[in-house]
Amino acid sequence: MNRGSRSYRIALLPGDGIGPEVTTSATEVLETVADAHGFSLETAEYPVGGAAIDHVGQPLPAGTLTGCLDADAVMLGAVGGPAWDHGTGDKRPEAGLLALRKGLGTFANLRPVAVPRALAALSPLREERVTGVDLLIVRELTGGIYFGTPRTEGEDVASDTMLYTKTEVQRITRIAGQWARKRGGRITSVDKANVLASSRLWRAAVEEVLAAEFPELALDQLYVDNAAMQIVRDPRQFDVILTGNLFGDILSDLAATLPGSLGVLPSASVGEGVGIFEPVHGSAPDIVGLDQANPIGMILSAAMMMDHLGEPDAAAAIRQGVDGALNDGLVTADLARDLRFVGTREMTERICKWAVTSAATTRT
Ligand code: IPM
Ligand code: MN
Repeated sequence: MNRGSRSYRIALLPGDGIGPEVTTSATEVLETVADAHGFSLETAEYPVGGAAIDHVGQPLPAGTLTGCLDADAVMLGAVGGPAWDHGTGDKRPEAGLLALRKGLGTFANLRPVAVPRALAALSPLREERVTGVDLLIVRELTGGIYFGTPRTEGEDVASDTMLYTKTEVQRITRIAGQWARKRGGRITSVDKANVLASSRLWRAAVEEVLAAEFPELALDQLYVDNAAMQIVRDPRQFDVILTGNLFGDILSDLAATLPGSLGVLPSASVGEGVGIFEPVHGSAPDIVGLDQANPIGMILSAAMMMDHLGEPDAAAAIRQGVDGALNDGLVTADLARDLRFVGTREMTERICKWAVTSAATTRT
């Protein structure tokens, strides 16, 4: 393929809260590196979440799903907010995100957690404990209690069912295995097998796949309560953390304390076809429109997207942009120790600047 002829169709789903602001930032960074790396982007925007409920009456309109299925990748900002908190069933913004994940078959959610050198001192945990943290949470994303039935039983009883099939556990284990091979060769599988039957099935399936197909990897198994403690006590012991949907959701927010803010964590939801690249953070309704959102989680999600699309140089340039801005001492309000912080737009501009500065001159 000629350089310059490559073009990617990106479905943009800004969603709610700060979603539109951080999606705009990531798109700016992508446009900047696209020029420099000889490819182009064709973007199309679609409603999702509360924004879609307001405009179309449902959180995942059919046109949004079709647009995503036709795209090379999806970038999603955030969904949810107090305005829709009293909606029930399918009228909740979150239901749109779950339907999108299911509809695209993105059963594997990759949530890397690293602590950039410039942020180690800002972590609520001791600097020497978080320096050098580099772990990857592989969260099962289209099964487990998030998709259990039934969900309510009349007015006074509610239930959720945590169900896993062996096939679901096997395929997510293979994803974790492939990543562990490329990384440090270690997997910690997290479950609650001392109490839950679904966890005992999880454990057995993980052991079986790893023994048969990835015998060279080291496997540890932790109960989720212990895993939560270990992530705070000694986060550097982890390489790949493999876990189910609910435990992965909780542990990834917990792991956000390591770099000091949820706002810097990216994620990639991948599986059967088109991937969704979405930050780990929420919609932050309290700071909407104030130019205070941290765009880094979304921007690093765009870097994961470029890796996934086979553009590792562009991905590296984006990460270089983020490191450059952080090494300049820039932080947004969520990470600030005092009143010295910059806005979403200034942070984005600085990231763009460093993303196209030749690597040789970048401070590391
Ligand atoms: C996340 C979010 C979502 C989840 C919500 C918005 C449905 O918290 O991506 O971690 O629970 O999966
Ligand atoms: Mn979450």
